Amino acid sequence: MSLTPDSANPNARPAGSSRPLTPGTIATQFSKMDFPAPTGLRLNVAKSPTSPSPSPGAGAAPDSALSAGSNDTGDLSGPEPEAIVEARRRFRSESMSEQLSATLATMNLPQPERIFGPNEGESPAAREGDKGVSAEDWDKIKLDDDVPEAVKEPVRMTHSRNASKAEPTRVRSPLIPEQKHLVLEHHAAKEQKITPFDVEGAVDEEGKDLGIDYDKLVARFGAQKISQDLLDRFEKVTGHRPHPLLRRGTFFSHRDFNIILDRYEKGQPFYLYTGRGPSSDSMHMGHLIPFMFTAWLQRVFNVPLVIQITDDEKYLLQRDVKKQADMMKKIKGKKPLDLLRHYKQMAQDNIKDIIACGFMLEKTYIFQDLGAMGGAFYDNVVLMSKTLTASNIKGVFGFSDSDNVGMFHFASIQATPSFSNSFPHIFGQRDDIPALIPCAIDQDPYFLLTRDSADKLGYKKPCLLHSKFLPALQGSNTKMSASNENSAVFMTDDAKKIHKKIRSHAFSGGGATQEDHRANGGNPDIDVPYQFLSFFEDDDEKMRRLAEEYRAGTLSTVQMKDECIAKLQEVVAEFQKRRSEVTDEVVQQFQDPTRKIDPRPAKKAEAATAATSAA
Ligand code: TRP
Repeated sequence: MSLTPDSANPNARPAGSSRPLTPGTIATQFSKMDFPAPTGLRLNVAKSPTSPSPSPGAGAAPDSALSAGSNDTGDLSGPEPEAIVEARRRFRSESMSEQLSATLATMNLPQPERIFGPNEGESPAAREGDKGVSAEDWDKIKLDDDVPEAVKEPVRMTHSRNASKAEPTRVRSPLIPEQKHLVLEHHAAKEQKITPFDVEGAVDEEGKDLGIDYDKLVARFGAQKISQDLLDRFEKVTGHRPHPLLRRGTFFSHRDFNIILDRYEKGQPFYLYTGRGPSSDSMHMGHLIPFMFTAWLQRVFNVPLVIQITDDEKYLLQRDVKKQADMMKKIKGKKPLDLLRHYKQMAQDNIKDIIACGFMLEKTYIFQDLGAMGGAFYDNVVLMSKTLTASNIKGVFGFSDSDNVGMFHFASIQATPSFSNSFPHIFGQRDDIPALIPCAIDQDPYFLLTRDSADKLGYKKPCLLHSKFLPALQGSNTKMSASNENSAVFMTDDAKKIHKKIRSHAFSGGGATQEDHRANGGNPDIDVPYQFLSFFEDDDEKMRRLAEEYRAGTLSTVQMKDECIAKLQEVVAEFQKRRSEVTDEVVQQFQDPTRKIDPRPAKKAEAATAATSAA
């Protein structure tokens, strides 16, 4: 028996162990066996004389589905992809099947119907009324093994979020293959690492944080920086001053944004797509600023918006062993399903907060993967997944062979809302309407793959607007964290709390002492209160003046903080007011997949009015 590296467990008994077998031990032992792919199994459904041809979607007909060794390959798809042929050559030898049957022979397996307890299971015997083990006998079997390993120790079904902690010797630096040559020269001792799962700035020889080099990121991802020309064009075409987040460079890079502006100018349809992985129940400003920005964009363009809540992703990709175990404890969960349900619940809670960012109900569809996937959407997931290979995914996300297969597959799911025909209640069958996706730069790898696959599928490539990470209160090197109360302003914080947090936790770019500040001035560029203010303050002249006086030392750090506090209190209060109006009914309306949404571009005059009310 061979074990995969992750399931290596010193306490595991060998397969031939003579302890009584229970469903738990059998499942556990099977899960540890490295089965070869089923070589000799051939589908011959159509040829079987004894079975009616199965209808699509129905389960396999009992006696015809699989038979060993038939000559009919049942192969309808032409030559197999090279990668599969290669994998077969490597992994599937006759000797492996022999080994396997030898192992199975020592396992003393009960007959299938005996694996199940009374009234359980779908074995033919159980269906025919044979109840298998009697209730009495069943009670005598020791049940302590019945809980699958993964449930007893949720630890074992996950991986560390921070790969370098789990596998210290291995650096999994994800590189997009065709862009390798774009990695610029660097002088860091440790390179920055940006993936959808890890954000770490570079570190120099002395261990000093170098922060995140966004220019390097843009170069590496092959995106374009948002230029002043592009912003000018935005303003000319939409009649709107770019949002402070665009103007001041938080949204700093893009892919094909000019195509969207072309379409807007010509009155051609497009839509917005964004999303969130629900990883905590309390959302903070860092989570919601991108949504507030998207709500603003929606009003400026007056277009449909789809919001994907990826509860599936967060369940599959939570690689922090301890976090997941703690969460399991907190929810008093017993099985993985309990945990999955918890993610679904967080998704619903997050949706309320997201709605409170101010989206247009009549043009917005919010959906949660675990509740909504099916139909045309799932068609596209399948199409998408066939365009991706495991090596694509490994190259782009830095996954390894010991990561779960759901992680590999998830990229197809995040890609799918980029295709308009995934949403028949909005776009019908039209697949030629491009999406504009505002997202943080760490999400770009998903959409790089999506853009590549869009060509293969005959769909439109999505266009993107990338944002930088919003700094934690403590400074710009990492993201705000929901698990660190003082790292962020939460949308539930009251005015007093905001005041206290900014006053005592916000990193200041001011002088070390008051005298020092008055003499030498401060640096607004690294001053967190100044930066937070700049996300929301529309008045450029005011921002310019604050920066100038700060540099001159005439504006104190406390004064700067108080400017920030006033603005954040205003934004959070507005949010809280809208949040209190989000009833269950409203939440349902946003998620109703049968509600028709008009995809036609509105007249520009209407769009402009909608936008004024958004400002
Ligand atoms: N993966 C994102 C997250 O972890 C969620 C997401 C899904 C998303 N689709 C998106 C984010 C589109 C931005 C744009 O939060």
